[in-house]
Amino acid sequence: MSNIILHADGLYHVYESKAEDGNVVALRGLHINMKAGEAVAVVGPSGSGKSTLMKCLGGLMKPSAGSVTLSGKNMTRLTGPELVTLRQKTVAFIFQEGNLLPDLNARDNVAQPLRHQGVSSKKALSMADAMLTRLGMAHRIQALPAMLSGGEQQRVAIARALITNPRLILADEPTGALDPVTSREVLALFKDLHINDGVSFLIVTHSKEVAAFANRSLELRDGRFVAEHGEGVDVENLSQDRELIIDETGTVTLPPDLLVRLGGAGRYTVGNVASGYLSLQGEAVEAMGEMQLATACPACKHDYGGSDDQLCPSCGSSRPMVEVKA
Ligand SMILES: Nc1ncnc2c1ncn2[C@@H]1O[C@H](COP(=O)(O)OP(=O)(O)O)[C@@H](O)[C@H]1O
Ligand SMILES: [Mg+2]
Repeated sequence: MSNIILHADGLYHVYESKAEDGNVVALRGLHINMKAGEAVAVVGPSGSGKSTLMKCLGGLMKPSAGSVTLSGKNMTRLTGPELVTLRQKTVAFIFQEGNLLPDLNARDNVAQPLRHQGVSSKKALSMADAMLTRLGMAHRIQALPAMLSGGEQQRVAIARALITNPRLILADEPTGALDPVTSREVLALFKDLHINDGVSFLIVTHSKEVAAFANRSLELRDGRFVAEHGEGVDVENLSQDRELIIDETGTVTLPPDLLVRLGGAGRYTVGNVASGYLSLQGEAVEAMGEMQLATACPACKHDYGGSDDQLCPSCGSSRPMVEVKA
């Protein structure tokens, strides 16, 4: 369908490791459908697979299984030059930082993707100047990235991303390293592109403002989409306005705060089942007191210290909630 800009089915990704701590399953069967012109946020704790997802969707990394369709073309089947062409024509990336080539000045950084497409050097440079001017960076076109502030670097990165006129922008915490004022400027620019040029956005974010810009937010946890939120989600309190997702394999993952409210892990009797309706009655539900994230990994004993990681950085196991000991 032509109005679907991005479609992914059964996306799995495993980071293979020969070390004894073994493989990390970063994506566990994801499904996503984005309409052209939509802005979607991806929210979720660190280690939940957000960056892995973005790389797989943008063709920077091949998923272990599953397919990604970009503008109606199955990207996971393409290789080499075909893949590069599809990517260049459709999608652009903006990461948190490190988007620029350190040895090129701002205008050359912005002109480079055009040169790759075979645009003449002269034309590429004049287009780069125009784009940098649009982003308020006309006075810094000669500067090397190291000479620019974080916000300026990100504006150059956005100019570089926009120069090829992409229909979809994949952004992985694009304002994560920026001060609030610059982050608001970047967001205003995204809004402008979204509303006036119909550009689609998929944005990983921890920011309320960015999530509020999105038409909907998908909550990722442990490599699965567990819930969807409407407009204006509160990223610090995802428990509000949450719609749970049951995936194609029938798996539903309860976010930990919901599990605690439900009464905890254990056996549930299936009551009423009807189209669009399911009731569960807890039978041998472990009484859950006050819960917190485990301080050490139950599998490999890794000490989480003060981190809020949800997956063990050492062995990749999910971090469980445990009862607070009195
Ligand atoms: N290159 C890699 N090799 C092995 N494991 C990785 C690699 N990159 C990420 N991971 C693991 O995959 C999981 C998901 O990581 P990531 O996609 O970066 O999550 P997020 O962006 O949500 O923080 C984590 O457990 C992380 O440790
Ligand atoms: Mg990440």
